[in-house]
Amino acid sequence: MRSHRTIGAWLARGVWAAAVLLALVGGQDAAEAADQTGHVKTQCEICHSGLGRTAAALPALQFRQDVHADKGFTCVDCHGGDPRAADKQQAKGPSTGYRGRPTGAGIVTTCARCHSDAELMRRYAPTQRIDQASEYATSVHARRLAAGDARVATCISCHGAHGIRLVSDAKSPVYPLNVATTCAACHANEAYMKGERLAGGAQLPTNQLHDYQASIHYRALTKGNDLSAPTCNDCHGNHGAAPPGVGAVANVCGTCHAVFAARFEQSTHKQIFDRACVECHGNHAVQPSSDEMLGSGAKAVCVTCHSPGDNGLAAADKMRGGIERLKGDIAHARALVDRVANQGMEVSDQALALGEAGNRLTLARTEIHAANPASLDPIVAEGLAIVAGVDTAGQAALAELRFRRKGLFGSLAAILVVVVALGIKIRELDRARRSP
Ligand code: HEC
Ligand code: HEC
Ligand code: HEC
Ligand code: HEC
Ligand code: HEC
Ligand code: HEC
Ligand code: HEC
Ligand code: HEC
Ligand code: HEC
Repeated sequence: MRSHRTIGAWLARGVWAAAVLLALVGGQDAAEAADQTGHVKTQCEICHSGLGRTAAALPALQFRQDVHADKGFTCVDCHGGDPRAADKQQAKGPSTGYRGRPTGAGIVTTCARCHSDAELMRRYAPTQRIDQASEYATSVHARRLAAGDARVATCISCHGAHGIRLVSDAKSPVYPLNVATTCAACHANEAYMKGERLAGGAQLPTNQLHDYQASIHYRALTKGNDLSAPTCNDCHGNHGAAPPGVGAVANVCGTCHAVFAARFEQSTHKQIFDRACVECHGNHAVQPSSDEMLGSGAKAVCVTCHSPGDNGLAAADKMRGGIERLKGDIAHARALVDRVANQGMEVSDQALALGEAGNRLTLARTEIHAANPASLDPIVAEGLAIVAGVDTAGQAALAELRFRRKGLFGSLAAILVVVVALGIKIRELDRARRSP
């Protein structure tokens, strides 16, 4: 407890030391009130940045790094007031339009005044979307806010209020690598979320970050540097955060895994599953898939609902059988091709064909999402036919090698005979020369 307070005090002292320093450097010449970048300082900024160790000073200091300051906006664009008045009372008088500190829905209105204004945004950032507030209005956050829940996220929970950065800035709280932590500030905080309920009435879980960090998506994003891997907002929307409803999950996953979603669409499961992909893969803790997930083995997902003897499990086993056969044949053919290649034979055609067969295997793993052996069979058959061709070519190459080896052996033997005969002849000549 005590050490917390000490560290807190120490940190606060650091912040205020920096604050005073910046104030001295930046706010010195109040008369001129324009910095090197041409940014004209308002009296609001000048007074506030000199307020020392108070909560009212920090916004003025943070605002110097703000994208809005870069565009020439000032305090009054969000707060109202008279920017030319050096006196506090005058700056915030009744006729100045001063609005004070916005809260709750007032924050959304403050930001939306510009961000929902097509004409204004076109002037500053022509390609910028203007649907943040209307999207936000569809979120659970907005609906709960309207019902009086002040704990939900508003614009500033995810972007900050001062020191707002471009979303492409790696330091922005909504940069892909930072989003999970931004959402988790609330969603992983059990005490903060206590009493928040799912639509069904159960306590809202707080394990999303924990589960997500165990997923292949998180690993691909953070370890694999794959920015196309999803974080929270890719599945929940940037502004319309809500759990994907019944029937919508396949669309969420399908934004990236489109072919899987299309096959799932054709399956019997489509009509039955409320949670689509999530029924078999989970939502936050999606794991790398494996062939063991298919069939009737202990690790198969099919056995959680299907029992021995029913059509579903029979189909599962049949599809797994096809995949295993193709996988086995590919492995066998690859070993053969490698053997032949090691002996110096040209195998680029065969290697190419094996790549083709591998594509069929990938396609087969996608096709199982239609849950229909009849649509899988032709793909497996094509793969097997390609592998059979490679196998034939590989066997022919082996036979050729055997033939060449025989030929080589024949020529070596002939050379040996000549060498031996020459040796004998030389010795005879030698002997003949030495004899008197
Ligand atoms: C001469 C100094 C001075 C000037 C000029 C000034 N302020 Fe303030 N402002 C303060 C102080 C001190 C506070 C701390 C709280 C208080 O005393 O009201 C404050 C508080 C605020 C707050 C927080 C209000 C709240 O309810 O928490 C906002 C927002 C604010 N000022 C905006 C502005 C804006 C916008 C301008 C320019 C139009 C401005 N201020 C001009 C000194 C000033
Ligand atoms: C892009 C809009 C925007 C701009 C520009 C802006 N503010 Fe704010 N300000 C807000 C919002 C929103 C809040 C409420 C923050 C919160 O509740 O945490 C706020 C809060 C404040 C507060 C109260 C802080 C507190 O912790 O009690 C002060 C003081 C303040 N702003 C001063 C300023 C000053 C001075 C400037 C100009 C240098 C400025 N603001 C520019 C949106 C803005
Ligand atoms: C729950 C968190 C969250 C809330 C609440 C939120 N945003 Fe965002 N915002 C994001 C994320 C995430 C992005 C996208 C970042 C990216 O594209 O990589 C974003 C992007 C943006 C952008 C860049 C353009 C765009 O649409 O992609 C703007 C502007 C913006 N938000 C404004 C707002 C405004 C205004 C509000 C309030 C109405 C708001 N945001 C509320 C998380 C949030
Ligand atoms: C006075 C008009 C105005 C207000 C009020 C305003 N913004 Fe902006 N905002 C802009 C403009 C203009 C840009 C510049 C767009 C750009 O350069 O991409 C911008 C940029 C942004 C960006 C960066 C977008 C990007 O392209 O990366 C974010 C995030 C943002 N604003 C959030 C907010 C939030 C949150 C609020 C409310 C607290 C707010 N804005 C209030 C006009 C405004
Ligand atoms: C300021 C705290 C805060 C932040 C930050 C925040 N949320 Fe929330 N969120 C809440 C609260 C509170 C609820 C309401 C819970 C409830 O009763 O449904 C909620 C609800 C939700 C829900 C609906 C849950 C349900 O009821 O089914 C989703 C989905 C969600 N948030 C996603 C996100 C995502 C994604 C982010 C980040 C981009 C985020 N949230 C950021 C506080 C926050
Ligand atoms: C790969 C997509 C995906 C990612 C990434 C993701 N979610 Fe979800 N999330 C879902 C789906 C799908 C559901 C609804 C699941 C269901 O119906 O069971 C959901 C449900 C939720 C809910 C409702 C309560 C619950 O747990 O069921 C919240 C809150 C939530 N997610 C927050 C987050 C946060 C915070 C993050 C980032 C740390 C995140 N999600 C990342 C897909 C995702
Ligand atoms: C924003 C794009 C995106 C979204 C949305 C998305 N994923 Fe992914 N997914 C990826 C990427 C990228 C990978 C990593 C591919 C790799 O490196 O193996 C991946 C990997 C996977 C894997 C492992 C594949 C393997 O090789 O074993 C599965 C399973 C998966 N995702 C299922 C889902 C499900 C289920 C959802 C919806 C709840 C979903 N994904 C949403 C992009 C996405
Ligand atoms: C009925 C259960 C089930 C459903 C529903 C399901 N999957 Fe799968 N998924 C599997 C199985 C089983 C595998 C493993 C197949 C294999 O490797 O033989 C798999 C594998 C995957 C893979 C990795 C394929 C590869 O090349 O290794 C991805 C990506 C994937 N699924 C995405 C999805 C998406 C997206 C959805 C929803 C549209 C979905 N799945 C719905 C059972 C399911
Ligand atoms: C969440 C439960 C669940 C899981 C997991 C599941 N199924 Fe199903 N499946 C069903 C239900 C319910 C039906 C429709 C009733 C039936 O025919 O058994 C069905 C139907 C089927 C059918 C159509 C059967 C027919 O009579 O036409 C096939 C094929 C099938 N499933 C294959 C699979 C495969 C393969 C897996 C594993 C990758 C799997 N299922 C996983 C619930 C599930």
